[in-house]
Amino acid sequence: MSAETRQPTGFTEFDRVLGGGAVVGSVVLVGGDPGIGKSTLLLQTAERAARAGGVVLYVSAEESVPQIKLRAERLGAASPLLYLLAEVNLEAILQAAGRLRPAMLIVDSIQTVHSGDVPSSPGSVVQVRECAAGLIRLAKDQGIATFIVGHVTKEGALAGPRVLEHLVDTVLAFEGDRHHAYRILRATKNRFGSTNEIGVFEMAGGGLVEVPNPSAAFLSGRPEAAPGSVVVCAIEGTRSLLVEVQALTIPSSFGTPRRTAAGVDYNRLLVLLAVLERRGGLQLSGQDVYASVAGGISVDEPAADLGIAAAVASSLRNRPVDPRAVVVGEVGLAGEVRAVPQVERRLAEAARLGFGRAVVPRIESLKGPAGLELTRVGDLTEALRALL
Ligand code: TYD
Ligand code: MG
Repeated sequence: MSAETRQPTGFTEFDRVLGGGAVVGSVVLVGGDPGIGKSTLLLQTAERAARAGGVVLYVSAEESVPQIKLRAERLGAASPLLYLLAEVNLEAILQAAGRLRPAMLIVDSIQTVHSGDVPSSPGSVVQVRECAAGLIRLAKDQGIATFIVGHVTKEGALAGPRVLEHLVDTVLAFEGDRHHAYRILRATKNRFGSTNEIGVFEMAGGGLVEVPNPSAAFLSGRPEAAPGSVVVCAIEGTRSLLVEVQALTIPSSFGTPRRTAAGVDYNRLLVLLAVLERRGGLQLSGQDVYASVAGGISVDEPAADLGIAAAVASSLRNRPVDPRAVVVGEVGLAGEVRAVPQVERRLAEAARLGFGRAVVPRIESLKGPAGLELTRVGDLTEALRALL
C-alpha cells in the first residue's frame, strides 16, 4: 500500500472517519440535511487545521463575509492562517486558491457555486458536476486536501450530492436528528480508509464537541427501571456503542394498530412483533407499538433484535427489565435467539460502563469479561423469562 500524506482535521473523530486525516490532493464530499451542522463542522475543522500550522481557505457560497465572521467568532475561529472568502463564482474560487496555495480548501456548498463557462443555472446537475470537476482538478494539481459540502435536498429541488459520489474520493454523511444534540459522521465511500467507522459529535452552544465516550453519552438520560427501556450494544467500525432502545405499547383505539419506529428499522420491528405474538405468546395485535432509540441515533443491526423485542414485551407487561443488564442477540422467525458477530467486544463495552449482566445467545465458547454475569438464552421465551 502506498503511504499517503495526510492532513489532520484537528478532530480525532473526523480523522478516524477519514482513515487518519484528509489525504493531500483528495476530495471529500460532506453531505447532510440542511441545518444538521455541516458548515459548523467544517468551519471548526478549518480553524483547527489552521491553528496546527496549515494555510486554510474556507469559501462560503452561501453567506456574506460578515456572516461567516460572526459565525467564526462564535466558534472561536480566528487563526491568522485561516482565510475566509464569500464567493459563488468557481473561477474566482480557483483563482483565490491558486494565489493562496492552501493546504486545505473548503467549499460550502457545491450547490451554490456556479461556473461562468457553464450555461445552466446554479444548483443544476450540470453546474454541480462541472464545478466539482473543477475543484477536483485543482485538488489533484496542487495537492490540496479539499472538502466540498453538499446539501441533501428533496427530490428535484437542487442536484444533490448523489450526482458527485462517483467523482470524489470520499463521501461522508453527517447525520442526526435535528431536534437532538448528537451528530454522527459516517463514510459511505472512502478510497483511503474503511467505510464503517463513525465519528460522534454533540452540537453545543459553542459549536460541535467531540464525544469520545458515546456509550456513556447515549445512556446518560436513561430512566431507572422504567418498563420498555432496554440497553443494547451495537458495533460501528472499531467501536462498540451502548444505546437505549425504548418501546411503548398501548391498546389501539381504531381497527388497525399503529406501529412507528424511530432509529430502528420499521420492517424489522414488524417482524419482531409477529415473532413475539406467535412464538412468545404476547397479545400485540390490539396494541399500538412505538419503538425508538434514545438520543436520535439509529441502530440497524440484527444484534439489536432481542433488545427491541424485550423492550416491547417489557412495556406490554408493564414490568421493567433488569436495569443492570444489556441484551445482545438476533431473533429468528422461529423465536430462536441467534449468535451475532463480535459478542466479546460488545460485552467488553458493557462491562466498561458498569453493567453487571448480559443476556446473550447460546454460544458455547463465549466467555464474558470479569464482573459481567452471562445469561445464555436459546429462544425468546427464555430471554423474556430471564429479563422480566
Ligand atoms: P449549520 O452548520 O449551519 O448547518 P448546515 O451547514 O448543515 O446547514 O448548523 C446550523 C444549526 O446548528 C443551527 O440550527 C444552529 C446550530 N448551532 C448550534 O447549536 N451551535 C453553534 O455553535 C452553531 C454554530 C450552530
Ligand atoms: Mg451550511
